[in-house]
Amino acid sequence: MGNGIAHVCALGGFDVMLHDVNVDRIESGLATINGNMARQVSSGRISEEERQAALGRISGCPTLPGLGEVDLVIESAVENETVKREIYKALCPVLKPEALLSTNTSSISITRLAASTDRPERFIGIHFMNPVPVMELVELVRGIATEDATFETARTFVDELGKTIAVSEDFPAFMVNRILLPMINEAVYVLYEGVGSVEAIDTAMRLGARHPMGPLELADFIGLDTCLSIMQVLYEGLADSKYRPCPLLVKYVEAGWLGRKAQRGFYDYR
Ligand code: CAA
Repeated sequence: MGNGIAHVCALGGFDVMLHDVNVDRIESGLATINGNMARQVSSGRISEEERQAALGRISGCPTLPGLGEVDLVIESAVENETVKREIYKALCPVLKPEALLSTNTSSISITRLAASTDRPERFIGIHFMNPVPVMELVELVRGIATEDATFETARTFVDELGKTIAVSEDFPAFMVNRILLPMINEAVYVLYEGVGSVEAIDTAMRLGARHPMGPLELADFIGLDTCLSIMQVLYEGLADSKYRPCPLLVKYVEAGWLGRKAQRGFYDYR
């Protein structure tokens, strides 16, 4: 999602530095942003001048120390608490003391992540939805230590991106994913139990419930590893068997069938 977040921040008028552990992925992220902005120009949503100006505001940043002067970090690494903690450990010493640190986590406790940093009072959850340039919502989530000033700065920032805010308390998977992921998990159970085929399940929910995408297509779009991580956070955090990840979802992830990004998930994209 990092490229989508960089995309909307640059269009919102902010200077953006895009960092990844893998330099090649910075390049591919910039190429994706370029392509997605071109789509927005062709459909008349933005002008070519706005595209050029926004692209000019984004630069790749191959090293963490290069982020030393930023005012806000939006960490959007993989949905894995250990990885996120390691990033904060390397990042915090290079940041300005007054810089805000935020996470795009889909489910992990903001309070716990904040406690692993040197700035829990300047730490907040800014949770975008995928695809970021299209989806209007951002969930704002305070940890127990988040200061009012941090919350207000984050609120103003998201307003300036033209997104609508839903404020969520810091509970597992917040609001959108607490509701959305059990539905997706249930769709996988429906497949697992042989109630319907992949196509039948998705058609049922697209035409029967007017969802823009069927739940299995959406799972492939989000990434099956991310879906599984979110279900595990719900299952462990809320201690209720209704959140048990479907064994078929676990098996797909174990097979490396992670959805669109792996060219294979419930659908075959090869
Ligand atoms: N960047 C910029 N624009 C994009 C884009 C992108 N990555 N992807 C799509 N678009 C634009 C298209 O250019 C098109 O624009 P116009 O209307 O101006 O022509 C518009 O979005 C619609 O796209 P398409 O015509 O290609 O396809 P579509 O009508 O099938 O819509 C979709 C695609 C917007 C993804 C739609 O299927 C959808 O809304 N799906 C559900 C997405 C969803 O539920 N997201 C939430 C996932 S959960 C989450 O993100 C939280 C989490 O933590 C896991």
